[in-house]
Amino acid sequence: MQPTIQSERYLLIGHPVGHLRVADQFNAGLEDRGANGRMTVRDIAPEDLAGFTDAARGMIGLRGFLVSRPHKQTILPFLDRLTRDAEAAGLANIVRRETDGSLTGHQLDGPGFLAGMHANGFEPSGKRIFIQGAGGVAAAIGYALAEAGAREILIANRTPERAKALAQRLGRTFAESCSFRIVAGPTKEADAAINATSLGTAADDRLPFDPASLGPDVHIADVVNLAGATALENAARRAGQTFQPGRDAVLPQYALMHAFFGAS
Ligand SMILES: NC(=O)c1ccc[n+]([C@@H]2O[C@H](COP(=O)([O-])OP(=O)(O)OC[C@H]3O[C@@H](n4cnc5c(N)ncnc54)[C@H](OP(=O)(O)O)[C@@H]3O)[C@@H](O)[C@H]2O)c1
Repeated sequence: MQPTIQSERYLLIGHPVGHLRVADQFNAGLEDRGANGRMTVRDIAPEDLAGFTDAARGMIGLRGFLVSRPHKQTILPFLDRLTRDAEAAGLANIVRRETDGSLTGHQLDGPGFLAGMHANGFEPSGKRIFIQGAGGVAAAIGYALAEAGAREILIANRTPERAKALAQRLGRTFAESCSFRIVAGPTKEADAAINATSLGTAADDRLPFDPASLGPDVHIADVVNLAGATALENAARRAGQTFQPGRDAVLPQYALMHAFFGAS
């Protein structure tokens, strides 16, 4: 559908933005659904973030915007409210402009990852799950898994203080239902092991962990989204494990974005 004067507007902000393909995919999804509107991309430097959010409140026709690096965490103080998902993960990757112009931050990295897990036949409820990494996406996934009923989440990270801070933060939210433990690496007691680091993005990256050290029934998942297989995928397939590639967490997010924005 061609945008019209009345079209709903969506933005994608980041810095830099040249490599981002999300807006094209988002617009293709709108077109497939026969929905009105168009997303455009804006390069917003960190020092302009406060000014951008102020301006966004007054942009008539703006339904909301997606937030890419490096703004996912730093945007929080400039928003009017956060969903529980965004608050617990400590980041927002999508912001809805409400009818009164106020801005609501939310995150879909966790729900998208969970949808990918389900699509690959893994149910996290009652399970013990290992996460390598303690950055933004690890926090989003940890929150989603705990909310989906995981029994225990084991966290390892290059910078242990960051792992400890994440375990404490999520532990406070899920004190009754899920425990969080810091580990040095994946252990045989895990039902699933997730790479939530950027390791695997470059061809010469080392493995985030070795799937061969885990049993054949362990579900292995990656957040790194490459067109081809990552080294972790090749190693998991050699070990006979089910493997969830990074793209399986990204594709479900388009429908979730449209739903959060109320795209029509
Ligand atoms: N599939 C999806 O839905 C999705 C969504 C968002 C992001 N991602 C991808 O997920 C990855 C992480 O994103 P993020 O937003 O979480 O980034 P982030 O907040 O910067 O966190 C990066 C994480 O990777 C670790 N790390 C980075 N380089 C490392 C190395 N050489 N050795 C060991 N650990 C290393 C960091 O450890 P330290 O704490 O020690 O620095 C930290 O745990 C990126 O590749 C991103 O593209 C995927």
